[in-house]
Amino acid sequence: MREQWFKDAFIYQIYPRSFKDSNGDGIGDIRGIIEKLDYLKDLGITAVWLSPCYKSPNDDNGYDISDYRDIMDEFGTLADWKEMVAGMHERGIKLIMDLVVNHSSDEHKWFVESKKSKDNPYRDYYFWKKGRGKDGKKPPNNWMSRFGGTAWSYDEATGEHYLHLFTKKQPDLNWDNPKVREEVGGIVKYWLDLGVDGFRCDVITYISKVPGLPNGKLAGDNMFTHGPNIHAYLHELYTEVLSKYDCMTVGEAAGVTVEQAILYTGEEREELSTVFQFEHVDANSFLQIVPRKVDLKRTKKVFSKWQNGLHGKGWNSLYLENHDQPRSVSRYITDNPGTDDFLRKQSAKMLATAIYFQQGTPYVYQGQEIGMTNIVFNSEADHVDVLSKTVFALVKKYAPFLKGYAMKALAIRSRDNARTPMQWNAGKNAGFSDGEPWYRVNENFAYINTEESKNDPDSVLNFYKKLIAIRKNSEIVRNGSYKELFEESKDLYVYLREDGGKKLLIINNFKNKEIPFTIPESGERSLILGNYKDVDGEKEMNIILKPYESRVYLFEQ
Ligand code: NOJ
Repeated sequence: MREQWFKDAFIYQIYPRSFKDSNGDGIGDIRGIIEKLDYLKDLGITAVWLSPCYKSPNDDNGYDISDYRDIMDEFGTLADWKEMVAGMHERGIKLIMDLVVNHSSDEHKWFVESKKSKDNPYRDYYFWKKGRGKDGKKPPNNWMSRFGGTAWSYDEATGEHYLHLFTKKQPDLNWDNPKVREEVGGIVKYWLDLGVDGFRCDVITYISKVPGLPNGKLAGDNMFTHGPNIHAYLHELYTEVLSKYDCMTVGEAAGVTVEQAILYTGEEREELSTVFQFEHVDANSFLQIVPRKVDLKRTKKVFSKWQNGLHGKGWNSLYLENHDQPRSVSRYITDNPGTDDFLRKQSAKMLATAIYFQQGTPYVYQGQEIGMTNIVFNSEADHVDVLSKTVFALVKKYAPFLKGYAMKALAIRSRDNARTPMQWNAGKNAGFSDGEPWYRVNENFAYINTEESKNDPDSVLNFYKKLIAIRKNSEIVRNGSYKELFEESKDLYVYLREDGGKKLLIINNFKNKEIPFTIPESGERSLILGNYKDVDGEKEMNIILKPYESRVYLFEQ
């Protein structure tokens, strides 16, 4: 029987490069995380998902790993890491590491060997293939990199192309080779033996490719997403390694449907504990980088589909932000153009209420708990993420007339928005670093920072603390049924959770305006959480909801 602690966890994601720098080199590091463990404990979170901290040339900020068993020099040493884990465990915080094994770095020794010759023992650790055309220099198939452009790079020395679904410095590992799967199992075991409590499995739905790597539809996605052996490979990893430890896994699963998620997370299937689905974030974007108008009805539909679809059959992950997504207050709230700080706080609290009373394991991304926002991009040079740079390069080469649109779209969608340094205080570099930060600090750090938040009883941070504490002890939130109410509303997201005769009514006003509302449930009720001090008609049936107001009522009979 699989351990279920992940169902009660509240997970905090750390993007180490931007979290806290302890040595003044401008790059966040492990000793910086150690300095902030009490902050995390005080917040009430019970686990940390740490984005990659392994050795890496940082083409994609650590999502390109050159040594899976050691720590990136900029982040510290394995001894620092061990001290960090011990410090987490002492405080009752579990550690979930990022497992990036769809691809490695091209600087990993496996790839360096693989490139040497066609008969190198490591050749089959990756996908090498002859190209098309007379000179064989055309890509072998139509697969596109997730970051744009072909997914193949030609290697002059051996006259073949290798596959990379991300940058050319991230060659895809060939999971059809049993040796590769054994290596992955060994890596997983290595970290579990060092005390980690789980893994977030990067782009795990891409690990099985259709044999022969044929052309696919559009960008080839149907030939490498949820491929023919994916379930067998995940089940193997589970039985061979994961099942022997008290650990959890969460698979990053862009494009996954409810039906597929049940296959990945159904307990009896013994594959993953849970997955990150993308439908609610895709509800206002196309292909990750193209913005789409926020439509609350569309987003609610997605929430409800996943709540109802996985109830009793799988397990949801609840998130609005991570290192790949823009900041949620900037993204979902478009009618407060960032000028009113009171309303920024109210909307950040409302968004938290809207998502975290759903069923599933909650994730909060560093800075979300203080309502950090997107940044302002003034020029192309402000963009440092490899995805944005790739887009700009492609636009320059193939469609220079799209430059203006690319600037606008990326300002809203760029992953850089989420990667600015954490705002700890109003001092130099927001308290992130004594040196020159690797990436710019958001100008608003003077008033959006953890110090300010600690001192303000009405801060987003203090609201998160309350919410986390309520959620921790709530059977209804963990197990209760879910029912969406007022589905037709374009302004309100209202839902009911119910378990053992108790009900929670969660009301969220997504708009910057007052909205009259009639409480749809009768009976004695108590307000257990809300984001306004003055609550209109706390006990009445007809109330007026204030801009971005949230209320959570408990009905106990
Ligand atoms: C998903 C990660 O979250 C993202 O940051 C990365 O660029 C890709 N996978 C490739 O590893």
